[in-house]
Amino acid sequence: MKTLLSIKNLFAGIGAKEILKGVNMNIGSKEMHVIMGPNGSGKSTLANVLMGNPKFSHLSGEIIFRNKNIKSESPDKRAAMGLFLAFQYPREISGVALNRFLFLAYSKLKSGKDKKYKQISVFEFQEKLQEEMKKLKINSELTSRGINEGFSGGEKKKAEMLQLGILDPEMAILDETDSGLDVDALKIVAEAINRFSKKNKAVLLVTHYQRLLKYLNPNFIHVMIDGKIVQSGGPELVKKIEKEGYGNFLNG
Ligand SMILES: Nc1ncnc2c1ncn2[C@@H]1O[C@H](COP(=O)(O)OP(=O)(O)O)[C@@H](O)[C@H]1O
Ligand SMILES: [Mg+2]
Repeated sequence: MKTLLSIKNLFAGIGAKEILKGVNMNIGSKEMHVIMGPNGSGKSTLANVLMGNPKFSHLSGEIIFRNKNIKSESPDKRAAMGLFLAFQYPREISGVALNRFLFLAYSKLKSGKDKKYKQISVFEFQEKLQEEMKKLKINSELTSRGINEGFSGGEKKKAEMLQLGILDPEMAILDETDSGLDVDALKIVAEAINRFSKKNKAVLLVTHYQRLLKYLNPNFIHVMIDGKIVQSGGPELVKKIEKEGYGNFLNG
């Protein structure tokens, strides 16, 4: 399996606070990896640092994506290379309609990837969008509103999955895309993750619940505690966490 993303001895913090304390991980181009861990262990920090959120400082180590060290690249360069992050707490951006944003982002990514790309018309794009929205059972008026503006928790998470479906990156980092969803929405989101993964794409899913994992077939589970991966294994780790909590991992 070809390695798509390789994280080597990654440290990062905010202000004087050290959060990531030497993370190592290799993700193959068709693999689904899950990071689990208690609140505050650094899962979202890792997701954000991978995408290039400038809020985090004193980075050291390497982030190799598609054979290139992207540690100093801007988030949009990383997106252009095929990396995508679904936020744990998607922001509301009023004044920019979701469908307009998706159209621009889609066109920019496509033309960046393929010099001969012929601009899709707004109408063609609308059709594509409608099709994707149907799969996610998203209300059709939602995308003409500002990005996440007045969206419910579940609608925000579905909107992240809509971006994933439209932008079709090489690798998706999904930060607690399962939180705040009712059972039906959870299934819809799981199906979207599976659809993406089945296209031979890579997924790094961050969660601290087990409930989403019963719909997915991850290859690897990693347990993050206090900024480090303390254990990695197969899906059997999920059962162990379910039964014993994170206490035993703390003691090694
Ligand atoms: N802006 C910030 N200022 C100070 N501490 C922060 C900030 N953002 C995150 N942290 C701290 O970093 C640690 C890791 O947070 P986070 O990565 O969100 O954990 P997780 O996603 O695993 O719950 C926590 O202790 C959190 O309080
Ligand atoms: Mg988090």
